[in-house]
Amino acid sequence: MAGTAQIGVTGLAVMGRNLARNFARHGYAVAVHNRTASRTRDLVEQFGHEGTFVPAETAEEFVAALERPRRLVVMVKAGAPTDAVIDEFAPLLEPGDMIIDGGNAHFADTRRREAALRERGLHFVGTGISGGEEGALNGPSIMPGGSEESYASLGPMLETISAKADDGSPCCTHIGADGAGHFVKMVHNGIEYADMQLIAEAYDLLRQGAGYDPARIAEVFRDWNAGRLDSYLIEITAEVLAHIDAATGQPFVDVVLDQAEQKGTGRWTVQIALDLGVPVNGIAEAVFARSLSGHAGQRAVGRGLAGPAPVALPADEAALFADQVEQALYASKVVSYTQGFHQLQAAGEEYDWTLDLGAIAGIWRGGCIIRAAFLDRITAAYAKDPALPSLLADEQFAAELGAAQNGWRTVVATAARLGIPAPGFATALAYYDALRAPRLPAALTQGQRDFFGAHTYHRVDRDGVFHTDWSGDRAETQQS
Ligand code: 6PG
Repeated sequence: MAGTAQIGVTGLAVMGRNLARNFARHGYAVAVHNRTASRTRDLVEQFGHEGTFVPAETAEEFVAALERPRRLVVMVKAGAPTDAVIDEFAPLLEPGDMIIDGGNAHFADTRRREAALRERGLHFVGTGISGGEEGALNGPSIMPGGSEESYASLGPMLETISAKADDGSPCCTHIGADGAGHFVKMVHNGIEYADMQLIAEAYDLLRQGAGYDPARIAEVFRDWNAGRLDSYLIEITAEVLAHIDAATGQPFVDVVLDQAEQKGTGRWTVQIALDLGVPVNGIAEAVFARSLSGHAGQRAVGRGLAGPAPVALPADEAALFADQVEQALYASKVVSYTQGFHQLQAAGEEYDWTLDLGAIAGIWRGGCIIRAAFLDRITAAYAKDPALPSLLADEQFAAELGAAQNGWRTVVATAARLGIPAPGFATALAYYDALRAPRLPAALTQGQRDFFGAHTYHRVDRDGVFHTDWSGDRAETQQS
């Protein structure tokens, strides 16, 4: 006999527990299960008053508690643990039932799992869930992939529990088939890495270049958060920088070891972008900056290298410099999002997904880590032109970057002059200038490749493929 729970969550660590609570708070009957049964009992004891939970101590009980089609949310670690849970539950399910993977799975794993379960008549819905533990409880941004049929059944529930944008729309939409949801979550995380790197560089420049202390920089970020940089990451940056370490009375940021870690989604974004041939310079520099920070040995060697000791600008120049840093931060942020959305475009073509970039920007306006006011602008840009080839093709963004470029250039030049590393700002400016360039030095690269490898080249003045006989009379022959 089918059960009555509209949704089930297995894996009740904080994220899974909070997601189950979110469903229960919205009136759904929620079957809950965990390998360690005490965690299931604890959830019901602590939060049973929030709604209807149906505790299950075994996989069979859990499946039996679910109404048809069964909707089973898996909230366990990505990789082998997810495969293990699928292997445990799939044999207990019937055609039309669905397994929803809410972890940060690699989209290629999701495509594999979706194809395998589809053979058994089951839906597999790889779902990006962004917003951390707080988001899972109070409203995440939700990026489900999988079939249209599964979304027809599952989507309304996810939209109910998702965050809502300022216009009230749910921060959840059907992203696309098979692994599209996890792919988009991956790119979200890549953009998050780039955002965080640019903020870190802005902080470093204000600290070392403007000579501001963390408390003053926190105020600067609070001011920026009232303007076009209004976003969750800018908001929490002000909080982190204003925080005083209780044990030492020092600024918290000064007692934290300066070696950034990473679980891997930003790295995946860059790996896939390399395969797709999409330049995500900002995300790549962010991943590499985290990696470099962790190489203590290399950095110890570097300490002795010649270079300027950063000297703060004179006070009367610091305020102007801070304004220029805001311009560099905003412009570089637009470039990073431009690159991230280019990767989404390329992925849609490569993996045969119909990705609605405006809808994706729209569900990132709330709940997720990169939620920001300017995502309204990106949503509007794609609504105005769904086939927009690049965010920089949007007149308003192009105009804003044009207006910011002098400050942006000054900041990159000042950083270089003072010896302050600003790879994110610099690579974003180099990308912007490369797009602007009427001719790129790639022509020379083609000549070199033809010289040492006979790899041929094209000409600007006529069609065809050409090679020059560099070791002979340097005659050019047309190859095709
Ligand atoms: C989110 C976050 C989350 C991320 C962790 C760790 O969207 O809620 O992006 O999914 O995985 O914050 O991120 P890193 O360890 O990769 O920085």
